[in-house]
Amino acid sequence: MRGLDRGGHPLYRRLMTGQHHESILIVDFGSQVTQLIARRVREAGVYSEIAPFSQAEAAFERMKPRGIILSGSPASVPDDGSPRAPQKLFDAGVPILGICYGQQVMSHQLGGEVRPGHETGEGGEFGRAFLTVTEPCVLFDGLWDVGERHQVWMSHGDKVTRFAPGFRIVATSDGAPFAVIADDERRFYGTQFHPEVVHTPDGGKLIANFVRHVCGCAGDWSMAEFRATKIAEIREQVGSGRVICGLSGGVDSAVAAVLIHEAIGDQLTCVFVDHGLMRMNEAEQVVTLFRQHYGINLVHVDASEMFLGGLAGVTDPEAKRKFIGKAFIDLFEEEARKVGGADFLAQGTLYPDVIESVSFTGGPSVTIKSHHNVGGLPERMNMKLVEPLRELFKDEVRALGRELGLPEIFVGRHPFPGPGLAIRIPGEVTQERCDILRKADAVYLEEIRNAGLYDAIWQAFAVLLPVRTVGVMGDGRTYDSVCALRAVTSTDGMTADIYPFDAAFLSRVATRIINEVKGINRVVYDYTSKPPGTIEWE
Ligand code: XMP
Repeated sequence: MRGLDRGGHPLYRRLMTGQHHESILIVDFGSQVTQLIARRVREAGVYSEIAPFSQAEAAFERMKPRGIILSGSPASVPDDGSPRAPQKLFDAGVPILGICYGQQVMSHQLGGEVRPGHETGEGGEFGRAFLTVTEPCVLFDGLWDVGERHQVWMSHGDKVTRFAPGFRIVATSDGAPFAVIADDERRFYGTQFHPEVVHTPDGGKLIANFVRHVCGCAGDWSMAEFRATKIAEIREQVGSGRVICGLSGGVDSAVAAVLIHEAIGDQLTCVFVDHGLMRMNEAEQVVTLFRQHYGINLVHVDASEMFLGGLAGVTDPEAKRKFIGKAFIDLFEEEARKVGGADFLAQGTLYPDVIESVSFTGGPSVTIKSHHNVGGLPERMNMKLVEPLRELFKDEVRALGRELGLPEIFVGRHPFPGPGLAIRIPGEVTQERCDILRKADAVYLEEIRNAGLYDAIWQAFAVLLPVRTVGVMGDGRTYDSVCALRAVTSTDGMTADIYPFDAAFLSRVATRIINEVKGINRVVYDYTSKPPGTIEWE
């Protein structure tokens, strides 16, 4: 084992079992913000996993967690068929924190009473609220004192009207007399408010108090530990087999590739299918970094002609996406065959893609866009998967990338869609239009970096519109394309707000683009949030 302590060190034992030594199980009842609970626990230095309530018992057996957190839910405890926590969790002698619905379901299952808002005649509490601390509690250690009032975020219609035997009230609010309840003997706690959201300013510390002071976790989970654990796991899984990994130029596949390379060296081959729809200099950067810097076996397939040829005359966004997705998979498969086959396919799948979120509405969701991914590949190619990032959130992947020494320009890069610039050129995609867009995009990003704004923005990019307008430059008339600028803030790409640049910044970018990029004579700024817009234009 390269670089790892072989002796009876507990880390080594953990590496061999693939088990994190301290973990918290989060039982999901379908709240929109369950993932944030996992985030807050990990920020406290403790590994956490989310399991749907229906699989919570199995997850508990597997993880042997130090503590359990019960999430919120759109369901209502008094309703028939609303979800329950497995009774076994309450009997296991492990600390539990119930949040909102989690508090209510715990109270209900342990002998208390929960009543719907319409019965108590007192509506619920939604949004910012203030609670008053009435008794000391370990959750408030170093944080809140008796008699103080603190801002929290509530979102509930139902409420606990009688708490279960063994509990005491430690904080109240106008709308929830049992804002925080505690049973110190069993180490069960419940909050009616949501500590996981930023609108509860002390919520992260409160969750940290639960995992550290109540569950007794040391809080020493780190990317260095994760890296060592994963390297051992990859070696164990792959043995002497061969792994093939598709590089996209994005952070996730890059981090996965570097980690796997560290584990198994030349047993890894990376394939970079270059569709010619990347941003300025991006393809060269990928090749240089992986081949020269890391010495990773890299097959660079320059397929730009093939992709542009196939996109000729295609204007429908879904047709573009479908063509690119299929061509990409075909080429990747062909290259994998040329390499001589592989036993494993590596993918940069992240935790948000893995979590089975609980749906209370049922029914399939509408396809807004066909996202470009290689989901069907493993079955088609009869390969097993290596997905070392399955347990990580995006910013944790970035932290791991830094831990692995990937350059900041790579690690901090804004997300970029699989179909690339093709979906930022509404209408027909041609080589000429790709070149124009690349230049405008590069100017825009350079100005954003110069202004020190790059990291405050989730994604910023230029879009080349299929519209020509009249302008005047010098003494002459111009009749050229319009370029739209987009910049959004977001935490996960699911919703987004526009980034509020100041007018001086936008006019500087517009002037530079019009002066420096031939083919564009007008620049507009996209002021649409998501929803109702999407982040990309197609
Ligand atoms: P939308 O446009 O749906 O985008 O609001 C949400 C996020 O997803 C990215 N995106 C993609 N990522 N393959 C990807 O890997 C795709 O086909 C794709 N389409 C959109 C988009 O850039 C944004 O971050």
